[in-house]
Amino acid sequence: MFTIQTYSPQETIALAKRFAAYLNPGTIIALSGELGAGKTVFAKGVAIGLGINEHITSPTFTIINEYDGEIPFYHMDTYRLSDESEALDIGVDEYFNYSGIVLVEWPEQIETLLPAECIRVNIKKGWQDDGREYRIIEFTAKGHKLEKLMGEFVENEIAGN
Ligand SMILES: Nc1ncnc2c1ncn2[C@@H]1O[C@H](COP(=O)(O)OP(=O)(O)OP(=O)(O)O)[C@@H](O)[C@H]1O
Ligand SMILES: [Mg+2]
Repeated sequence: MFTIQTYSPQETIALAKRFAAYLNPGTIIALSGELGAGKTVFAKGVAIGLGINEHITSPTFTIINEYDGEIPFYHMDTYRLSDESEALDIGVDEYFNYSGIVLVEWPEQIETLLPAECIRVNIKKGWQDDGREYRIIEFTAKGHKLEKLMGEFVENEIAGN
C-alpha cells in the first residue's frame, strides 16, 4: 500500500492528475471513504488528468456520468443504490467490460460486482494540531498489471516528479 497526505482540494486534484497519467483503458478504480472525504474531488483530478475538459459533477443522483476523452471516463457513485440487483438493473457491471476508465465512489455498495483486478483508493480525514483538516490517501493495486502500473506511479511520487 502507498499512502500520501494532501492538505487542500487542490493538492488532491494535483495528485489524482499525476495518478491518471498511469491509467490504461479498462482500469477500474474503487474509490472509498466516508461522506465528504474527497472522492469526487479526486475523481475531478483523474478526469482532468485524462484530458477531459467538461465540468465534472457528482454522479450521486445520476449514478453514472460518462465523459468522452481520448480514453472514455465513467464516473460512478453507487451511494443511492439500494442493493446489487438494482445496480445490475442499470447495467453497472457492463461498464467493467468497456475499454474506458471506470471510477466508482462507494464501491462497497457493489462489492461482489467489482472485478478482482482493480486499484483501491481510500481517503480518510485527519486533523492537524491547529484543527485544520487533511486527507490520508491510500492506494492498493490488485493484479499483476495494476501492481506494475502502481509501482511506476509510486516510484515517481517518491522521486517527487
Ligand atoms: N485535502 C483535501 N482533499 C479533498 N477535499 C478536501 C480536502 N480538504 C478539504 N476538502 C473538502 O472536502 C470536501 C470533499 O467533498 P467531495 O464531494 O469530494 O467528497 P465525497 O467523498 O465525494 O463525498 P460523497 O460521499 O458525498 O460523494 C470538499 O468540500 C473539499 O473542499
Ligand atoms: Mg462524491
